[in-house]
Amino acid sequence: MEYRGYDSAGIALVNNGKLNIYKKKGKVAILEESNIGEDLNGTIAIGHTRWATHGEPSDRNAHPHQSAGGSLAIIHNGIIENYGSIKEELTAKGYTFNSDTDTEVLLNFIEDIRKNNECSLEEALRIALKRIVGAYCILIVDQQDPDTILAARKGSPLVIGIGKGEHFLASDATPIIEYTKEVVYVNDYQIAIVKRDELVLKNLGNERETPFITRLDMELAAIEKGGYQHFMLKEIFEQPGTIYDCLRGRLQPEHGLITMGGVDAYLENLVKAQRIIIVACGTSWHAGLVAEYMIEEYCRIPVEVEYASEFRYRNPVINPGDVIIAISQSGETADTLVALENAKEKGAIIFGVVNAVGSSIARMSHAGAYTHSGPEIGVASTKAFTGQLAVLNMMALKIAYAKGTIDPEVYHSLLTELNQIPDKVAQILKNTDAIKAIAEKYAGASDFLFLGRGYNFPVALEGALKLKEISYIHAEGYPAAEMKHGPIALVDENLPVVFVATRDRFYEKIVSNVQEIKARKGKIICIVTEGDTHIPAMADDVIFVPDTPEALGPMLSVVPLQLLSYYTGLAKGIDVDKPRNLAKSVTVE
Ligand code: F6R
Repeated sequence: MEYRGYDSAGIALVNNGKLNIYKKKGKVAILEESNIGEDLNGTIAIGHTRWATHGEPSDRNAHPHQSAGGSLAIIHNGIIENYGSIKEELTAKGYTFNSDTDTEVLLNFIEDIRKNNECSLEEALRIALKRIVGAYCILIVDQQDPDTILAARKGSPLVIGIGKGEHFLASDATPIIEYTKEVVYVNDYQIAIVKRDELVLKNLGNERETPFITRLDMELAAIEKGGYQHFMLKEIFEQPGTIYDCLRGRLQPEHGLITMGGVDAYLENLVKAQRIIIVACGTSWHAGLVAEYMIEEYCRIPVEVEYASEFRYRNPVINPGDVIIAISQSGETADTLVALENAKEKGAIIFGVVNAVGSSIARMSHAGAYTHSGPEIGVASTKAFTGQLAVLNMMALKIAYAKGTIDPEVYHSLLTELNQIPDKVAQILKNTDAIKAIAEKYAGASDFLFLGRGYNFPVALEGALKLKEISYIHAEGYPAAEMKHGPIALVDENLPVVFVATRDRFYEKIVSNVQEIKARKGKIICIVTEGDTHIPAMADDVIFVPDTPEALGPMLSVVPLQLLSYYTGLAKGIDVDKPRNLAKSVTVE
């Protein structure tokens, strides 16, 4: 679970009427060390890794938090937006607080309701949840009740694993598969009362709801490092297999067919769509940009690619029948989720391109296509990105063919080429020594520029994002031609400039852009197509990728950039799976 946040960690155990809480700033390993010799027995326990929102990372702000009366402990993902006014009310009643968190306020609010109403903890929780505004997944234990964990969610995910005489609660399914494959995804506004042998789900009106049990199709090996030094490296190297898994059963080049259940079910809507809006964040947003180029080129449908966080707040024009494609690895990104809920209310058709099976976005979409990349544990997204591109490529080709906007010959050849992508990625991964050497050579740089044109422009953005996340080097991605309108002022002999310059229709243009940087003494690193001799003659360093049609190129050209950032982070001694300030799923807005 540690990929959810690693600025502090803590656990609370209830044992025989005793509540023991241990928490520490820093990673789980630090908590573990500090726990040696402590009493770690319990019949129920809760644990949390934090990504700070309210209050700096510190021992006192780490979860679990204990109630003022001392008998309750809570862990919480999310943000309680109206905690300020509740805190004022409680302070006026004499409550004092040991942390700066919204979570401690929520717990004391619940305790106060229980005391005033002389009701059960469950009832107090229900009353409190009706008053609070914000997003939450909370777990609460009471030292008086050593067999019950109370849980509730709104906006932040919660999964319950059903074992034999035991239950497991987590914010996603991956840590549970070690113990059981049967899980229940808790819905918004549900409360779970979890005992050793019993799981009761209720709504906020105190009515029971039937838990829907899902069987996980995931193996333990998928969440282990499998001999690699880091998850990120493992996941980069998994890509031939994960892209293949994504295409498998869908792409049949020999029959000119693409079978995708979700797309088939909504094909008419997609073909008739007057416009498509793509909503995503971060790396997934970059995948959306590639899709924009492809859908506009082959389907002739106007596409807008939106940052979910902006889209949700700017009152966008959405007409019934508009198609929204949501792209998300985790399927839990808060901004994307809420943006979709708003659009759904306005009559849009929501199509999810999601990796995490059973996640909130997957469940709220009208239709969708999983990327089948397997659990992505490394904080920097790698295999999920190429999986997203594979799905979006297939979707675009399928819609274009149904719409008659693609030349059938081009369609058939793209299908054949797409089928060869896994092998070509494997070829890139055969020798990564050159990329490692380049990373080590430039690891001391303070800035990087990434440039590309056409389909390679989003790849340049992605390369810059990866480098920032994993090496803490400031990097900017830019359209290569736009550089002369400003960023070129940054270029001097100390600036490494990465060109994504594979053979495509802009090749001659990007050659001119390379010349412009060379004339200003920038250090030139180029990703080029095998066999190219022209650009390598101008560059300081070169990485070759196999040839492929330009629309499919990003799935190849991004791989060396993933490795470049990985090896740069490694050279700088950074924990690449847990870079500072980041969390894998951003479930707060
Ligand atoms: C970058 C990265 C983030 C995510 C973004 C969206 O390496 O991992 O930028 O892409 O937070 O996350 P998902 O795709 O889970 O919605």
